[in-house]
Amino acid sequence: MLPSEYPIKQVRATYPALSDGHAYLDGAAGTQVPRSVIEAIATAYRSGLGNVGGAFPASHRSDAIVAACRAAVADLVGGKPGGVILGPNMTTLTYRLARAIAGPGDEVVVSRLDHDANVRPWTQTGATVRWAEVDPVTGELPVEQYADLVNERTKVVAVTAASNIIGTRPDVPAIAEIAHAAGALVYVDGVHATPHGPVDMRALGADFYATSAYKWSGPHIGAVVADPALLETLRPDKLAPSPDTVPERFETGTSPFADLDGVTAAVDHLAAMVPGTGNRRERLLTSMAAAEAYEQALFAVLVEGLETMPHVTMYGKPARRTATVYFTVAGHTPRQVAEHLAKLGVNVWHGHNYAWELTGAMGIRDSGGAVRAGLVHYNDRSDVDRLLEGVARLE
Ligand SMILES: Cc1ncc(COP(=O)(O)O)c(C=O)c1O
Repeated sequence: MLPSEYPIKQVRATYPALSDGHAYLDGAAGTQVPRSVIEAIATAYRSGLGNVGGAFPASHRSDAIVAACRAAVADLVGGKPGGVILGPNMTTLTYRLARAIAGPGDEVVVSRLDHDANVRPWTQTGATVRWAEVDPVTGELPVEQYADLVNERTKVVAVTAASNIIGTRPDVPAIAEIAHAAGALVYVDGVHATPHGPVDMRALGADFYATSAYKWSGPHIGAVVADPALLETLRPDKLAPSPDTVPERFETGTSPFADLDGVTAAVDHLAAMVPGTGNRRERLLTSMAAAEAYEQALFAVLVEGLETMPHVTMYGKPARRTATVYFTVAGHTPRQVAEHLAKLGVNVWHGHNYAWELTGAMGIRDSGGAVRAGLVHYNDRSDVDRLLEGVARLE
């Protein structure tokens, strides 16, 4: 599908929040949700829910919701339903898994491109830490360095599928090949990447793929997907009476069942943004590819617009990137720019956005970082134009 054929009007019409007139360019920090997600959550509550594993219908409904949610997330990332761990968010799940995977005596490789949620959980395991460096000017994560970073003691290589501030999509398959050759596991942070195009965790070489539904039109739920056979080899901290099966062993406490139904609805929504055929996985690949092409075409307009403004500095120029731009405006702090844009009804983020190491490497963390504007599948040309007009006024 050509970017010009992407049904942006229809997609936008499914999001009630977009009718408030704001340009929601803050999707990288969390997206709005379509009506179908809101209704799925409300319907689940209306239907009567119980805790899982009981003898009565309301409990059976929750059992079915959990199973459907695992199947949906597996379809989204190309994984197996039995390997989908559900939890409150990616950070919590990554801490849980990191403790189960690595410890003193092991080595872990983390990168300065990553959001801190795929850094600190590993550096705090007590393992020896090795750092993959980022080029602070281009924003690229050179692959070659990994050959010197991994060895037979490396337990895990943690790397992002896309930077949450400058959008860099590093060559994860090549990094994974180096890691696997040394016998290490690969833990991919897909939180920022997932909403921006089709995902195939196997093609990425990801042993673990982490994602968060609230970045792709769903509720605030995180998931980590792995092969169930790999999960069988790990023993996370857990309560004595809680299930010891996989993936339940990794899920602490009681799940927000209604929200999990919202996650399934969000996946169904993503699969249906453009007309498609086949099973849900196939329709997801078609729909997300169309959204990606549309987003990238719109992003070119955004970047070209900012490039013409001498008072704007953009950070990073990676070859492959999501539609996410990070910039400063001469004479104004990032917070001031965000406040100015907010008055014009344009929502953007400012600061380091938890890209702690990357903003440190770029030398802008202590001065307040920069402004982040990101496009997702529901942004349109008017959102971009309003941002550009707003920034132009700051000259
Ligand atoms: C790339 C990336 N990784 C991890 C996270 C943390 O995700 P969560 O809020 O689900 O813990 C974020 C959140 O912004 C992110 O953008």
